[in-house]
Amino acid sequence: VTVATQTGEVPETDDASLETVGWRGDSASGHLRLIDQTRLPVEFVRIDCRDVPTVWEAIKALRVRGAPAIGITAAYGAVLGGQTALAGGGDADAVRRGILDAASHLRTSRPTAVNLFWALDRVSRVLNEAGDHEPGALLDRMLAEARAIHDEDKAMCRAIGRYGAELLAPGQGILTHCNAGGLATADYGTALAVIFTAHEQGKAPHVFADETRPLLQGARLTAWELQRRGVPVTLICDSMAAQVMKEGRVQAVVVGADRIAANGDTANKIGTYGVAILARAHDIPFFVAAPSSTFDLSLADGSSIPIEQRDPREVTHGLGRQTAPDNVDVYNPAFDVTPAMLIAGIITECGVIRPVNALTIRQVLQSGVD
Ligand code: MRU
Repeated sequence: VTVATQTGEVPETDDASLETVGWRGDSASGHLRLIDQTRLPVEFVRIDCRDVPTVWEAIKALRVRGAPAIGITAAYGAVLGGQTALAGGGDADAVRRGILDAASHLRTSRPTAVNLFWALDRVSRVLNEAGDHEPGALLDRMLAEARAIHDEDKAMCRAIGRYGAELLAPGQGILTHCNAGGLATADYGTALAVIFTAHEQGKAPHVFADETRPLLQGARLTAWELQRRGVPVTLICDSMAAQVMKEGRVQAVVVGADRIAANGDTANKIGTYGVAILARAHDIPFFVAAPSSTFDLSLADGSSIPIEQRDPREVTHGLGRQTAPDNVDVYNPAFDVTPAMLIAGIITECGVIRPVNALTIRQVLQSGVD
């Protein structure tokens, strides 16, 4: 595993985009560049991935995380598998094998976000349809597909932002959980895209960001992204959401998703289900924002969505020091499933699905992007 790290200033660009994931160079000698999200918000560090094990580790360790960003990363990772075969003097068959072996390996990195499998399926399908190519041209084709996945995600985020902002009224308090922002996607985000767009439209949303135990994506990433774009944000511990709602500070909840079943049951970061129950108890609409690539219509409902179990140390040593007794039993599921009945609407790049059920999901997704 080879990792080149660079510490740098946060890039200042006109549109505040971050380039969470990027490819540098051509298919034969280029590499994948990621922001190491485990170092934020204190350090802004990019890592260069030149082989598949480095990409696998980056996904597993949450250096890159968030469903769409994981999918884009995996697609570029498959290109690296072919590149290694090409560099070893491999012919087209060897490059093919390199790509498919990379895809199989990357599939084992994290189980819940369906975007990972969706992106690797897409790359593998294009590979199968590619016909006879010389090895370099085959690799070019794969890089073009990974770039297409990347570019499409950018467009999906913007469309989600536009549809979602229409659901928000001026001056509302919006609660979000985990990070579904630019760091979790190609750029701009899903749940945060809704908030960024509303902010840009002058609707003045005020965000309550759950810190999101155990790995604090809300505190470390969401609060940071919102601050960068000048959106007012108040950070709260997860356990404070009920009180904040009871005080009347929240008028809508918007969260992302890792996998949405055919009936609308939605897997997202652990704690999302609790937020949905709290929202229902306080009569606050609970929205999910996600691209079509996050739907898994092969699953009838959420009961068969695989839930990632993570290292107990994330709970016992998550804050840089030990916070629990030695050898205590720990349960650490990374995601939970919110039943469709608690979801007021799912905001996609094809439009808003509302009410949420198997029929409306199919109708909106089949209508495509306008
Ligand atoms: O474990 P993570 O940080 O990858 O979990 C991320 C989430 O749960 C996000 O809300 C989800 O992937 C949507 S990202 C647009």
